Amino acid sequence: MSETMRVTMAPGGPEVSRLAYGVWRLLDDPDGADPARVLAKIEACLECGITSFDHADIYGGYGCEEAFGAALKQHPSLRQKIEIITKCGIMLVDPARPQNRIKHYDYSKQHIIASVERSLANLHTDFIDIVLLHRPSPLLDPDEVAGAFHQLRDQGKVRHVGVSNFTPVQLDTLASRLDIAIVTNQVEIHPFQLDAFLDGTLDQCLQRRIAPMAWSPTAGGRVFAGDGPADLRVRGALDELARKYDASPDQILYAWLLKHPSGIIPVLGSNRPERITSAARALDIDLDIQDWFAVWVAATGSEMP
Ligand SMILES: NC(=O)c1ccc[n+]([C@@H]2O[C@H](COP(=O)([O-])OP(=O)(O)OC[C@H]3O[C@@H](n4cnc5c(N)ncnc54)[C@H](OP(=O)(O)O)[C@@H]3O)[C@@H](O)[C@H]2O)c1
Repeated sequence: MSETMRVTMAPGGPEVSRLAYGVWRLLDDPDGADPARVLAKIEACLECGITSFDHADIYGGYGCEEAFGAALKQHPSLRQKIEIITKCGIMLVDPARPQNRIKHYDYSKQHIIASVERSLANLHTDFIDIVLLHRPSPLLDPDEVAGAFHQLRDQGKVRHVGVSNFTPVQLDTLASRLDIAIVTNQVEIHPFQLDAFLDGTLDQCLQRRIAPMAWSPTAGGRVFAGDGPADLRVRGALDELARKYDASPDQILYAWLLKHPSGIIPVLGSNRPERITSAARALDIDLDIQDWFAVWVAATGSEMP
């Protein structure tokens, strides 16, 4: 296991792994709900030092937390080896939530607390390491969120809080009402989604010394399966660097994200234990600066200005 796998996400914690594993697609796996299959993925992660697991209440039609929790229930000693991140706020139209007539967001104190309490029950745990607000809402009232976060923290149900898909101003506004630190902003980052590098999102993380989390780091697999011109350019660049570094193209992609000074934590989404294990080797690859820009230029299709 690489020694650099443990990191402190923000001043004052928490400690997490440099790569996280996301469970959004857990139930896409044909055996996804089988606790033995869930356990195989948790073990693949732990073997290579990945200890941080990214959930949301809504994943798998509100079913992923429960599937993961069933594996934890069978193996309770796992809980102390992992960090659990989960999210709240998105309200899906789903048979599990018949009261939702339209997809919307709810950040009322009552909903945040109820959602976290459901997550605790689903995951068979008495605390969440980090709870994230899943997406900003036009109706989000930071004082209301503060009331929920402070209560959950005081009750020991949540240790840390963060946000996801927030703009820098949205994050600052929420932070201005909290007496608990925001420890991350989880945003979409991959070669076809470079906004976070340019719109102040990663600069804010640098400013606050908090590590961002990158969701869909392979663009949902598009980096390795797409056949558009940008896909082919990026794949060509990754293949060439894979040969140079004696690595696989996905290891190069993760190394590309890891290189950013904000300490981006890629959230892996593969359902294949061997891909999870292989990804961890990315930590041993230090991309040369010009190689980093070669991926950027392949992604944008134009040379640096
Ligand atoms: N905060 C948010 O709003 C938000 C939104 C979306 C996702 N997320 C989080 O981010 C996590 C990761 O997102 P994601 O699942 O979209 O990640 P991803 O890695 O971009 O996509 C995973 C998909 O790509 C495929 N894939 C991965 N590596 C591959 C490779 N080397 N070659 C070919 N295909 C490959 C996987 O197939 P196999 O399973 O066959 O390997 C899987 O279908 C989620 O689980 C969730 O925790 C958060």
